[in-house]
Amino acid sequence: MPGIPNVVVVEHPLVQHKLSKLRDERTGPKEFRELVKELAMLEAYEATRDFELEEVTVRTPVAEASTKVLAGKKVAVVPVLRAGLGMVDGILELIPAAKVGHIGLYRDPETLKPVEYYSKLPEDIAEREVLIVDPMLATGGSAVAAIDFLRSVGARKIRLLVLIAAPEGIDAIARCCEDVPIFTCAIDDRLNEHAYIVPGLGDAGDRLFGTE
Ligand code: PRP
Ligand code: URA
Repeated sequence: MPGIPNVVVVEHPLVQHKLSKLRDERTGPKEFRELVKELAMLEAYEATRDFELEEVTVRTPVAEASTKVLAGKKVAVVPVLRAGLGMVDGILELIPAAKVGHIGLYRDPETLKPVEYYSKLPEDIAEREVLIVDPMLATGGSAVAAIDFLRSVGARKIRLLVLIAAPEGIDAIARCCEDVPIFTCAIDDRLNEHAYIVPGLGDAGDRLFGTE
């Protein structure tokens, strides 16, 4: 939350404009997918702000330039299926050398607990800066399970990128993983009785893929 050190709310006007369109119930799957992709790219720009640079020299058509490149940081983008898939392409446009891992989790509608059904990660995940991506941080159960799993296979440098967070989800991450920074475009009011974010945007997976 504003003032809580591990949460960054991306307040850029373009982000807030696109987020409003994303929330709108009249936005159909095609536009929804485009907006998720664009928001993910803009958010990744913020979330990588502290990546290290090193000095290099390149020759321009005019002269030698002392300039900077990324200091060999290796990145893995890890979407939480399904809805996290919508955020991958936007980030890969910014960081084309990133590898992509997948974690399949769904939230059991009765218990609201995450159920894992699939995972496939880059072999060298432990050496990579990991960006977990999932549009929604509601109870936080799915994100905590994804972080626990990634830690169990050696990942140490983990950032969580969501589009909308509930206070409950932020608390859950702060309790289990205070070293994991959260990037979000908004912090909403609360969860409803079905643990949906209010006002939120509804079911992100269904809106992305046109399912119900
Ligand atoms: C959604 C969302 C998150 C999770 C958030 O996935 O994409 O993964 O819910 O809720 P939580 O913070 O309470 O765990 P969902 O379980 O609906 O699966 P789907 O993406 O396959 O539709
Ligand atoms: N998952 C979603 O897709 N939306 C919510 O509001 C909460 C969990």
